[in-house]
Amino acid sequence: MTETRDFLSLADHEPSFLLHLLNRAHRLKAGEESDPVLAGKVLAMIFRKSSTRTRVAFEVAMLQLGGHALFLSEQDSQIGRGESMRDTAGVLSRYVDGIVMRTFAQEELEELARSADVPVVNGLTDLLHPCQVMADLLTVQEAFGPELGDRSVAWIGDGNNMAHSWLNAAGQLGFELRLACPEGHEPEPAILNRARERTSVLLTRDPAEAAAGAHVVTTDVWASMGQEAQASARAETFAPYRVDRALLSRARPDAIFLHCLPAHRGEEVTAEVLEGPRSRVFEEAENRLHIQKAILAELL
Ligand code: CP
Ligand code: NVA
Repeated sequence: MTETRDFLSLADHEPSFLLHLLNRAHRLKAGEESDPVLAGKVLAMIFRKSSTRTRVAFEVAMLQLGGHALFLSEQDSQIGRGESMRDTAGVLSRYVDGIVMRTFAQEELEELARSADVPVVNGLTDLLHPCQVMADLLTVQEAFGPELGDRSVAWIGDGNNMAHSWLNAAGQLGFELRLACPEGHEPEPAILNRARERTSVLLTRDPAEAAAGAHVVTTDVWASMGQEAQASARAETFAPYRVDRALLSRARPDAIFLHCLPAHRGEEVTAEVLEGPRSRVFEEAENRLHIQKAILAELL
């Protein structure tokens, strides 16, 4: 596998590079690396969907590394009026040193990356959310130590962009992944099968089976951005997949709970679990900053 200068999918990167990013993020978090390595560099951030963590973490990351970030919403740029990814990439490449994009189709992000002369980072698509899962892995290392291959992670709920990035991470780094998804909401077969060729992956309908003995129990919203019209139908389908105290008690006694946020208390997770002693969701959110600094410092 040749290393790409983009960060579009965890499946594109060698395990050694992913582990290097995690190590660098730990050093950045510990204050062991504070040089303004991106002084004079500019990051453009294109968002076609809402964001709090991704946007703020990338903007603060650039500032702390000595550079600058520009926020481009689709409404306020020509992207919203249909300017092509090809032309957008060609123009932005003349001004900036890197581009983050959050959008719907992974293909649109890939088209931007193909047309850009600067590195492109996936800030979430309908298919994948690699920066988030890297922050999650940093949080897992903080809880259980640097070795990831011996860990088991239980994914409860939708086979969505987060589930896909967890599958890619498990495939690259060799930990066990157990997914409990309702019928019709399983991950994409190609992503599932690729991970299954590389590591132990269980797909079940039973959340308790997935959670049994796990180091990490994690979930996400039942209706992702762009699926708002399906929210009430999904609420019914996913009701047995709520992470509550009883489900978490199936995991190891020292298991941690992760959620990429935003969360809906009482839907995919109870307030008791989200705010309870096993929850690491705010550490996880903080870790977006540290891992994204590492990604930017490596790619830009
Ligand atoms: N977890 C995450 O990506 O959050 P935002 O949508 O706020 O960026
Ligand atoms: N699966 C969610 C993640 C949000 C950070 C979504 O795509 O809306």
